[in-house]
Amino acid sequence: MEDKYILDACCGGKMMWFNKNHPNTIYVDNRKTDKGYVDGKPNFEVKPDFIMDFKKLKFKDKEFKLVFFDPPHVFARESNTSTFIKCFGRLNKESWQNDIKKGFDECWRVLDDYGVLVFKWSESNVKLKDLLEIIGKEPLVRSMRRGLSKTHWLCFMKIPPQNIINS
Ligand SMILES: C[S@@+](CC[C@H](N)C(=O)[O-])C[C@H]1O[C@@H](n2cnc3c(N)ncnc32)[C@H](O)[C@@H]1O
Repeated sequence: MEDKYILDACCGGKMMWFNKNHPNTIYVDNRKTDKGYVDGKPNFEVKPDFIMDFKKLKFKDKEFKLVFFDPPHVFARESNTSTFIKCFGRLNKESWQNDIKKGFDECWRVLDDYGVLVFKWSESNVKLKDLLEIIGKEPLVRSMRRGLSKTHWLCFMKIPPQNIINS
């Protein structure tokens, strides 16, 4: 764990990463797949350092300076084996609120004081407003959406409660 300051809590195919094996990062996902798993995407693979559930991260409190949380954001039937679902996973209709809240809380727990959490969410099925109600924390900023994009990048900082200055 030495020199590992960054956690990707559900890395999938690491498509958002410039360096998919960043030396200061630990990559986690709850599955592993080999190349060839997705038709038409021969290089797609899910290759985390650890297979782990983001609802139960096996890391100590405050272990990371930067955490990325990019969970699945669409509902789909178990029978759906589309390229999209194979690459990005699906939300469970029955438990998604609890799953996302637990995942967010775990990411927060392993984040150091003054650390930054980057949460990526697409409003495909769930509005940002509803998501924020579930996680119960206000982000500092979000990315401004362009055109038809439904994706938000939210940024949070873990400022210790005693150091939060009320305006
Ligand atoms: C939207 S994708 C991540 C895409 C990734 N950020 C990228 O750049 O390609 C969401 C990932 O969350 C993973 N996932 C779903 N539930 C999980 C859980 N409980 N714990 C860990 N990973 C989970 C899925 O397997 C999927 O790979």
